Amino acid sequence: MTRIYFNEVVTRDGFQIEPTFVPTDAKVALIDALSLCGYAKIEATSFTSPKAIPMLRDADEVMGRIQRVPGVEYTVLVPNLRGAERAMEAKADELNLVMSTSETHNLANLRMTRAQSFAALAGVVRFVDGQTPINVSLSTCFGCPMEGDVPQADVLSIARRFADHGVRGLTICDTTGMAHPLQVKRLVEALQAQLADTQLTLHFHNTRGMGLANILAAVQAGITHFDGSLGGLGGCPYAPGASGNVCSEDAIHMLDAMGYDTGMDVTKLIQLARQLPQIVGHDVPGQVAKAGRITDLHPAPPL
Ligand code: COA
Ligand code: ZN
Repeated sequence: MTRIYFNEVVTRDGFQIEPTFVPTDAKVALIDALSLCGYAKIEATSFTSPKAIPMLRDADEVMGRIQRVPGVEYTVLVPNLRGAERAMEAKADELNLVMSTSETHNLANLRMTRAQSFAALAGVVRFVDGQTPINVSLSTCFGCPMEGDVPQADVLSIARRFADHGVRGLTICDTTGMAHPLQVKRLVEALQAQLADTQLTLHFHNTRGMGLANILAAVQAGITHFDGSLGGLGGCPYAPGASGNVCSEDAIHMLDAMGYDTGMDVTKLIQLARQLPQIVGHDVPGQVAKAGRITDLHPAPPL
């Protein structure tokens, strides 16, 4: 049984686009509950500018208050050196650096050219100096909502440059749900051929309903690490048309049904997903929490 590892991003990618501030207490309680569900990793928050992402302005407090469960890695998104300093101070288990493979999206999201972002992040890698593992999330790898196609060669060359800097892992992000399964297979195979020693994680959004199909295509191409967001919340506020991540419980439920070992407690996960509408104040896209598992049967009607 192939082991599949999930990184839960609801309190980072999930919350960053929500219009109403989620109180710090609710964030901490949710992360603590998620920690008991079997995740390999939780992206707890981001150390970004509080003006850029006001929802996560309480990142330092959240990291200070969560109960860290052994075996779960607590990672944080970091856009620049200031973010890295804050993340190190908060004793994050991993720094998840971020830049976009599209020039236009990188300028909109990070207010830097790709060259400036790369130089800044290479500086972060030198600053961290091996004290904390580094992952790099590359946005818009399957298409940019403003530029359209992002050439596979651009994704491969940026990925290669980070691998040469010794980062542990790369997350290949489909920021606005533009990927389709054949494209996923092609890019994953090209990355695997070039980056044998780098841990690859795939990050999909379900903007056009292709999220689960893309996960399956990636699994079939040999990928074992995925990001998911509880309830299917999420999106980048600086990517026009962005909407929810692939829903964690839907993806985990699917892989579970297929016999993959996700290491997850799906019952607990669904219970948590059912609390999410109260936390964010609206319905969420996830389907399994509404329908129940395929093993949750209904009584037959009386004859
Ligand atoms: N943490 C906290 N504050 C930060 C910061 C960080 N990582 N980086 C910059 N700041 C502060 C600066 O201190 C400055 O504050 P001041 O106005 O009170 O002096 C202000 O933010 C502007 O700093 P500057 O370096 O000019 O940054 P910017 O305005 O060009 O913004 C980023 C650049 C990268 C910091 C900002 O665009 C950002 O945080 N983007 C994150 C976007 C994101 O997370 N998107 C979703 C995930 S893909
Ligand atoms: Zn995302």
